[in-house]
Amino acid sequence: MLFSFLLLQAATAAFAWDTFLVPHTPGGDDTPGLLSLVTNHSSDATILFRKGITYNIFTAIKFPVLTNVEIAIEGNLTYPTNISEIQAIVGASDFPGSWFTFSGGNNVTLRGSTDTEWGWVDGHGQAWWDAVQQVNRPHGWAFNDITNGVIRDMKLWKPIGWNFATSGCVNVHVYNNKILAASDTSVMFCASSMASLIIGPVVPIQHRRYANNPCRYRSSQVAGFSAGGNNILFENNYVVNGDDCLTVGSGAHNITWRNSYCEGGHGLSIGSLGSGGSVADVQNVLCVRPSYQVPALTSHARSMETTIMNTTLYGARFKSWTGGNLWKRSCAQVRSVNSYVRSHSSDDSVTWKDITFIDVPFPIYVTQNYWDQELGPPPNNTNTVNNTHIQDFLFENFVGVIRDTPYVEGSCVTDPCWYFVPNATGREVVILDLYPGTATNVLAKDIFARTETGRPVAVMCNSTTVSNDVGFKCWDGPFIRTKAGL
Ligand SMILES: *[C@@H]1O[C@H](CO)[C@@H](O)[C@H](O)[C@H]1NC(C)=O
Ligand SMILES: *[C@@H]1O[C@H](CO)[C@@H](O)[C@H](O)[C@H]1NC(C)=O
Ligand SMILES: *[C@@H]1O[C@H](CO)[C@@H](O)[C@H](O)[C@H]1NC(C)=O
Ligand SMILES: *[C@@H]1O[C@H](CO)[C@@H](O)[C@H](O)[C@H]1NC(C)=O
Ligand SMILES: *[C@@H]1O[C@H](CO)[C@@H](O)[C@H](O)[C@H]1NC(C)=O
Ligand SMILES: *[C@@H]1O[C@H](CO)[C@@H](O)[C@H](O)[C@H]1NC(C)=O
Ligand SMILES: *[C@@H]1O[C@H](CO)[C@@H](O)[C@H](O)[C@H]1NC(C)=O
Ligand SMILES: *[C@@H]1O[C@H](CO)[C@@H](O)[C@H](O)[C@H]1NC(C)=O
Ligand SMILES: *[C@@H]1O[C@H](CO)[C@@H](O)[C@H](O)[C@H]1NC(C)=O
Ligand SMILES: *[C@@H]1O[C@H](CO)[C@@H](O)[C@H](O)[C@H]1NC(C)=O
Repeated sequence: MLFSFLLLQAATAAFAWDTFLVPHTPGGDDTPGLLSLVTNHSSDATILFRKGITYNIFTAIKFPVLTNVEIAIEGNLTYPTNISEIQAIVGASDFPGSWFTFSGGNNVTLRGSTDTEWGWVDGHGQAWWDAVQQVNRPHGWAFNDITNGVIRDMKLWKPIGWNFATSGCVNVHVYNNKILAASDTSVMFCASSMASLIIGPVVPIQHRRYANNPCRYRSSQVAGFSAGGNNILFENNYVVNGDDCLTVGSGAHNITWRNSYCEGGHGLSIGSLGSGGSVADVQNVLCVRPSYQVPALTSHARSMETTIMNTTLYGARFKSWTGGNLWKRSCAQVRSVNSYVRSHSSDDSVTWKDITFIDVPFPIYVTQNYWDQELGPPPNNTNTVNNTHIQDFLFENFVGVIRDTPYVEGSCVTDPCWYFVPNATGREVVILDLYPGTATNVLAKDIFARTETGRPVAVMCNSTTVSNDVGFKCWDGPFIRTKAGL
């Protein structure tokens, strides 16, 4: 009984569509049975994790190529709780790259459940965060090379690494998913000793550096969604995490993100691009639109229907590596050459639109000068030829509150912190960190911000680096809207 699987007649037998239950052994690893099942039925099938069972996904799985397959998760799934056991699997040479790795196919659905008690994938991340364990963290769901796919109603509980990636996908709809990667513990943790706990005080943002030891919050540095591929629509997703909510990678075209909620973490990002000397290309990205209401911001009518960035480090962010010098990053990556981020046409720009931000230190942040601060001061940027070029960026209708009160972000382990911006006041609604001749038509319009303390909102922008009216007076000073910003 326990070691069996059942073949159920699908209601629509006319379509020869069958549902197969994933076999389960209490206490055992259910991955081999799952792999066997999905290998036997890699087309025209639903592979069902049944409600009422907690399945043990004790080893990583790489799915075969799938055609017309639905993976339905109505039961709970659990990772191993033993950290070193997972690390050994991730560190092994045959690790497929993620705990759940898809390897192509057509018409593939990954579906969770709307039941509140069941359908959760539990990564047991808390133990990793408490131990500040970054070594061999397993990534979650690599939805690779799927044409016509759906990821919906998935619910991830305390995942360890990044969560969903859609590289190589075409026409994928990602909606109604929930990622809850909030840590129960938010005390500061001193990385230098790995033992002592320090409770506050947090550091004023205008300094954004640590006076003493490099300390950090225990946190969950896990990215939400990584968008690769073409024609990917993300909507109604709910993410509480400690890294990018959405990150759009090189080669991504026609990515839309809307009606969603991001809490904690690093915001809606494009990049980082151009590392390893790669040629990056991102086109037609739209991060937009409605759903959650923010009572505190009702005075701005348009904010009523906006994607919310709640206590994230950034709202909208673009980052590319500094060009020119060879500059090694931790994983021997080299700085950018020849990256290009642009829209298909001038009507169809890379847009972040209708964003509500709550207590966000950097609502809009664009840098062509992303570097690894752990390795020292930024390189001198002498090579503008091979810098990442950006074109037609539009930030439209951003409404919210800038966090200009003490703040320390969980991923900070260096002094100054990796997101430290020299000379920033902590009150900037927009920071454009650009190089001359490489940025065309960057515009911020309909920006309505105030600071938590009520002090004047500021901007950072070097007028020698822009050629158009960017929507505000381009200087390091108070935010003054210009004609294009109206
Ligand atoms: C897959 O097919 C093989 C060969 O028919 C069979 O032995 C095995 O039990 C099947 N696996 C599952 C999980 O159905
Ligand atoms: C695609 O998969 C869905 C189930 O996920 C199924 O209902 C549909 O019939 C499939 N489409 C085709 C063309 O087979
Ligand atoms: C965790 O796994 C490691 C290596 O597989 C093993 O040595 C250790 O005993 C396990 N710890 C527990 C608490 O089971
Ligand atoms: C399923 O997993 C979630 C997350 O771990 C948990 O909160 C829930 O209680 C589990 N459901 C059952 C019925 O055990
Ligand atoms: C862009 O993606 C959307 C889905 O988000 C799709 O409806 C639309 O057809 C795509 N546009 C192009 C030009 O492929
Ligand atoms: C923002 O996040 C905080 C902390 O989790 C929470 O208390 C607050 O309700 C959230 N605000 C909104 C509008 O969701
Ligand atoms: C940048 O240039 C300055 C002045 O020429 C020099 O002192 C510094 O070492 C250079 N920095 C790097 C990282 O090359
Ligand atoms: C710019 O990049 C091209 C192609 O990667 C390379 O051949 C060229 O040497 C680079 N130019 C400079 C000034 O680094
Ligand atoms: C910071 O401001 C000082 C004083 O205005 C200036 O000399 C310095 O170049 C600025 N640093 C940066 C990185 O902009
Ligand atoms: C503005 O950019 C130019 C060109 O890169 C640079 O020479 C100048 O120092 C910058 N000004 C400030 C205030 O950073």
